[in-house]
Amino acid sequence: MAGTGESILVTGAAGFIGSNHVQYLCESRPDARIVALDALTYAGNMENLAGLEENNRFRFVKADIRNADALTALFEEESFSLVVHFAAESHVDRSIMGPEVFVDVNVRGTLVLLELARKHKIARFCQIGTDEVYGSLGPEGRFTEQSPIQPNSPYSASKAAADHLVRAYHHTFGLDTVITRCSNNYGPYQFPEKLIPLMILNCVEGKPLPVYGDGKNVRDWIHVRDHCTAVDAACRKGRAGEVYNIGSDNEWANIDIVKRIASLVESKTGKPRGACEALISYVTDRPGHDRRYAMDSLKLRHETGWMPAYDFDRGLADTVDWYLVNESWWRRIISGEYRDYYDKWYGDR
Ligand SMILES: NC(=O)c1ccc[n+]([C@@H]2O[C@H](COP(=O)([O-])OP(=O)(O)OC[C@H]3O[C@@H](n4cnc5c(N)ncnc54)[C@H](O)[C@@H]3O)[C@@H](O)[C@H]2O)c1
Repeated sequence: MAGTGESILVTGAAGFIGSNHVQYLCESRPDARIVALDALTYAGNMENLAGLEENNRFRFVKADIRNADALTALFEEESFSLVVHFAAESHVDRSIMGPEVFVDVNVRGTLVLLELARKHKIARFCQIGTDEVYGSLGPEGRFTEQSPIQPNSPYSASKAAADHLVRAYHHTFGLDTVITRCSNNYGPYQFPEKLIPLMILNCVEGKPLPVYGDGKNVRDWIHVRDHCTAVDAACRKGRAGEVYNIGSDNEWANIDIVKRIASLVESKTGKPRGACEALISYVTDRPGHDRRYAMDSLKLRHETGWMPAYDFDRGLADTVDWYLVNESWWRRIISGEYRDYYDKWYGDR
């Protein structure tokens, strides 16, 4: 199994979780070569990888996972031992407005990677999946790896299809695979269209805080760093062909998260008490909005010894601080300037 001295391909490496994972691997695996691949769609931001330019164990490749020629050349150039596949179209709302690109990237892109992993006899392929493939829960119970696959949005359907292909490549071709399925992530570098950063930024800017439906949809939140350590545990110690749920037993109704963020921003920025909460605005519910997700991650915990390290109070307060301190990062996203960073990085090379 994957140890040190290996060469790791991380796809979707300029996105939220991919960039956190690359940073984590660079810190935790001093002997490994890390190849970070990303197509730099609207969600990919090279600024998330800033500081790694000078690390000679690190290489960034701008490529689309659907481009079999570009990927074939890369797999021939490098000898990967591990592929960690984060690249995806990831926003549920966008999948409702335009599902085609979700199928194309999340399903066909994964197939291109699986085919190359098979041909090049990659020691392990790790598919980053989501709890959303299991559909929606009632008020009780949690998803286990045995829960039926019942995706409800075009996004989750495309992710489920990708997971099925990964399973098929293990069964049919003997490719060593693991699939991880994680609950909702929060933390630094999350694109501001997602709930937690959107609410922080709107509080700072005094804009309405749009809350879907009655605000009582429940999500199970995990700090992105805990997701990274869980993925690493599954890559190192998970059994071939298995699925591992990831979660940190931390369920919150959306409205309660929004109220907590409002109160944190008020106290950290000196805004009057209640000023941010007054911005809450209920909006028409998302079509097909899943009511509740909750993950049972005992399998990963028992088999690998993984445990989440972040307490939610600390993690959320740290995240609010991160967005307050890194205002120029999100202002460049809002203005579109972040897209010039790749040219600045590679312009003189
Ligand atoms: N965010 C969550 O809470 C969460 C939870 C569970 C699982 N996941 C999964 O984790 C992965 C990463 O999610 P995220 O939140 O970091 O998403 P993100 O949107 O922030 O990042 C996705 C990255 O993939 C890149 N990408 C998109 N299409 C590509 C293509 N055709 N070729 C190469 N790169 C491409 C984008 O440029 C971006 O950098 C996804 O597979 C997602 O399904 C996310």
